[in-house]
Amino acid sequence: MKALVLSGGAGTRLRPITHTSAKQLVPVANKPVLFYGLEAIAEAGITEVGIVVGDTVDEIREAVGDGSEFGIEVTYIPQDEPLGLAHAVLIAREFLGDDDFVMYLGDNFIVGGISGLVEEFRGDRPDAQILLTHVPNPTSFGVAELDSDGRVVALEEKPKAPKSDLALVGVYLFTPSIHEAVRSIEPSWRGELEITHAIQWLIDQQRNVRSTTISGYWKDTGNVTDMLEVNRSVLETIEPYAEEAEVDDGSEIIGRVRIEKGAKVTGSRIVGPVIIGADSVISDSYVGPFTSVSEGCNIADSEIEYSIVLKDASIIGVRRVEASLIGRNVEVTPAPRSPSAHRLVLGDHSKVQISS
Ligand code: DAU
Repeated sequence: MKALVLSGGAGTRLRPITHTSAKQLVPVANKPVLFYGLEAIAEAGITEVGIVVGDTVDEIREAVGDGSEFGIEVTYIPQDEPLGLAHAVLIAREFLGDDDFVMYLGDNFIVGGISGLVEEFRGDRPDAQILLTHVPNPTSFGVAELDSDGRVVALEEKPKAPKSDLALVGVYLFTPSIHEAVRSIEPSWRGELEITHAIQWLIDQQRNVRSTTISGYWKDTGNVTDMLEVNRSVLETIEPYAEEAEVDDGSEIIGRVRIEKGAKVTGSRIVGPVIIGADSVISDSYVGPFTSVSEGCNIADSEIEYSIVLKDASIIGVRRVEASLIGRNVEVTPAPRSPSAHRLVLGDHSKVQISS
């Protein structure tokens, strides 16, 4: 069995932060979302992995390399234009040969991996197996309609009036019968060869299309609340580690905290789950639960909690930052105060507290 990972598509600048143009490299707990997919593939025992790449090929190649760090062997498959998920299958024909494969969209995140699914698929080999999940915004996804026995009867891509709230998750398992399907369909109104249409073609041909409904799914839609939430759930599973970091005696590290190589913590309190990236400096600060600080950051005289701080950002003298997403190279500092004066007439032995 092989894997086809889709990391093409045009660069995106639509997110609230433009930290990378490849959406598959958006970090979750300091690690690109694509890496979780590659790890899940390796964990399922699949080693031959084709990665479809487009405009952002350089960024993807630099991050993934030959795949040996993940225990996989990567073949890059260039796609000149993002002509659709089924188009990606078409151009990967040679790489895929006549093997079964899992198609994995590089910007999708699935809690708990895919090993169980792959095993189940290997046992029964339906023509296709799709994953579904309940979503609040089905119009942004492919949507499945099931009959009373739970069988897939129809699929619709980004429907205006969705027939259910069951969205297609970006992991599909296929036998080689998908190749005939992708050759048989026409481009959609958005000019793409839709994998949804190819699967619908299989259904129309009375082929065996099975679905599994999962929970624990995330895809970056630019929604900061969702991003903080997936970051939180992954931080709960990180391995505590601080061996290559410098932590002084005046600091207190509590709970699940990972501090990467070259990072320095002085006079600070860090309450996990927290990850601090390589070469970051945390001084005289409080870093509270569910915070990811990327590499090269500087947090001084500040308090931060339940937040994501991206590469080379600095937060200096700010109390307190919460539920925030701070982009690359951002500087956060206190606003200068407008000149003010206190005119005081204080009796003997007064005690006054003035915030300044
Ligand atoms: O994420 C799940 C959804 O993915 C499904 O619910 C939809 O049915 C499915 O069509 C797809 O919808 P999107 O419109 O969200 O897909 P997007 O264009 O964002 O592409 C998904 C990934 O595949 C992304 O990592 C980019 C990559 N891609 C996309 C296209 C269109 C390619 O590598 N080549 C392509 O031609």
